[in-house]
Amino acid sequence: MSEGDADRVRDALLARFGESPPVDASLAGIDELARMAGHRTHRRYTERAVGADLVRLLCACALSAPSKSDLQQADIMIVSDPAKRDVIADLLPDQPHVRDAPVFLVFLANGRRFHDLFARRDRPFVNDHLDAFFNSTVDAALVLASFLRAAEAVGLGCCPISVIRDHAATVSALLDLPERVIPVSGLCLGWPADTPPITPRLGLDLTIHENRYDDGEIAARIAASDRRRAGRMPYRRQRDEARWGTAPDYGWSEDKARQYATPQRADFGAFVRGKGFRLD
Ligand SMILES: Cc1cc2nc3c(=O)[nH]c(=O)nc-3n(C[C@H](O)[C@H](O)[C@H](O)COP(=O)(O)O)c2cc1C
Repeated sequence: MSEGDADRVRDALLARFGESPPVDASLAGIDELARMAGHRTHRRYTERAVGADLVRLLCACALSAPSKSDLQQADIMIVSDPAKRDVIADLLPDQPHVRDAPVFLVFLANGRRFHDLFARRDRPFVNDHLDAFFNSTVDAALVLASFLRAAEAVGLGCCPISVIRDHAATVSALLDLPERVIPVSGLCLGWPADTPPITPRLGLDLTIHENRYDDGEIAARIAASDRRRAGRMPYRRQRDEARWGTAPDYGWSEDKARQYATPQRADFGAFVRGKGFRLD
């Protein structure tokens, strides 16, 4: 039991959501809840190395995540070859943490092992549709989330890197990814060089539902979240001012509406299909 941990949970949730559900300090694992509530993405790392054994241990813990029907359709690629890392970093010049992080990993959705099993057992692969892609991607996302949790538990900091998918075909060729194996996210890993602020999220009134989906008064609720975020962690700059001008109330809504006003990864479906997944 620890009041200190319970306070850490409350403080983090207040910063994140503007409110905290009641926190029972006697809960088992309250220290783990404090760590989860206090999550932040780390993009700056010290020069201290992260040992290969530790990376493997974290991978094993992450791969202990639940897996849909025990199909085990996620893999982790450790990109330890500096030349390969340089290729990825060169593709992403606005993501300096990709070059700087002591360790770089790629989380993979793997529909291959399961698919090929059917050929070896001389059975038709009758479930060749969107669900095969979806299941393997969900497995990979769970492994990614579990890796973050394991890494943060030992004091490491992480930054997932979905922008590797802007260059999915190049990354895939670089890492020799075969048919039905696709990158879901990269991940930078290292010992944190700073403590970034907790990033606020939308209010829990928007994202927790009970018994029926409720988005009543959604515009007002999102506006309230925008105001809370602006008060706590205002955006340092407004995106694409040349195109959209300067907004008086620049919050999450305006930032995301600007971010996705430019087409992103419109070719990703073609890449996934080209890798052998059927998306219908
Ligand atoms: C699947 C996934 C992909 C992400 N991709 C990137 C990325 O390419 N570059 C980056 O700097 N951050 C990336 N992030 C980090 C998010 O920007 C970050 O989680 C979000 O801003 C919320 O901040 P927080 O994690 O500190 O709460 C990614 C996060 C997730 C979960």
